[in-house]
Amino acid sequence: MNWTKKDLLGITELSKEEILFVLDTAESFKEISQRDIKKVPTLRGKTVITLFYEPSTRTRTSFEIAAKRLSADTINISASTSSYVKGETLKDTAKNLEAMNPDVTIIRHSMPGAPHMLARILDSSVVNGGDGAHEHPTQALLDAYTIREKKGTIDGLKIVIVGDIIHSRVARSNIFTLRNFDSEIVCCGPPTMLPPHMEELGIKVEYNLKKAIHNADVIMMLRIQKERGGVSYIPSVKEYSAFFGLTGEHIMNAKKDVIIMHPGPMNRGVEIMDDVADGPYSVILEQVENGVAVRMAILYLLLGREK
Ligand code: CP
Repeated sequence: MNWTKKDLLGITELSKEEILFVLDTAESFKEISQRDIKKVPTLRGKTVITLFYEPSTRTRTSFEIAAKRLSADTINISASTSSYVKGETLKDTAKNLEAMNPDVTIIRHSMPGAPHMLARILDSSVVNGGDGAHEHPTQALLDAYTIREKKGTIDGLKIVIVGDIIHSRVARSNIFTLRNFDSEIVCCGPPTMLPPHMEELGIKVEYNLKKAIHNADVIMMLRIQKERGGVSYIPSVKEYSAFFGLTGEHIMNAKKDVIIMHPGPMNRGVEIMDDVADGPYSVILEQVENGVAVRMAILYLLLGREK
């Protein structure tokens, strides 16, 4: 398959074949990170910019590591240290950065559609590193990679997503990804945190955590999106935790080989308890490790495409 897309803006614009192509490409890159010398010359001479208007630990760092392992040059810009604080618009910032001839810009922004706007005005590639509550495509791809790696397949599974679904770009991108496969997707959370009409998308809705995770193969926990007003959708964080916080006891209802996922950052003691986060079923740090391989694949496909 030839990759022809200039940008990666969302999962909705990827076919199942393209999703699988990213995962297969990532598989060939994972081994590089396990070598003594973690570097190949594939993207030598290319320049990767991360332009983050929201905080990030995993996405920004793993894109930088991915680029460096492929020998690209990397520049990291965060809003707080850019001319954004002096009133520069996103469009002007992006056009000025493009004047320095980067090959790809990875943007995270609180406004849904910000990466799409950049993709329209820039000749170089744009990757969505998370836009508001809209999409986080690279997170969903690394999640799909992790599920396939741990389960051998993304078909025939019961995958349960728990938490503040309505504000979660991770949940949206995961749902758009997983709908391509023949797995049962269950969303669980308080009614106020579940978008309406989910059943029309083929998603099962369950308000009881114990019932939701019965026989689950995969449990994906989400934090309350405080920055998007999530706390105002529940009576209290304490009550939320009592009903939707995942404990070791809950896991007894899932399949014996269940995997517990979380995109991070975790709020320990709220949506996930320590014994689960650090327990034998947790693949949370493996998700982070796989994020590097998946982002290497994305940079490679975008920058190596036929123009
Ligand atoms: N999962 C995720 O996007 O984490 P960061 O906010 O740390 O990038």
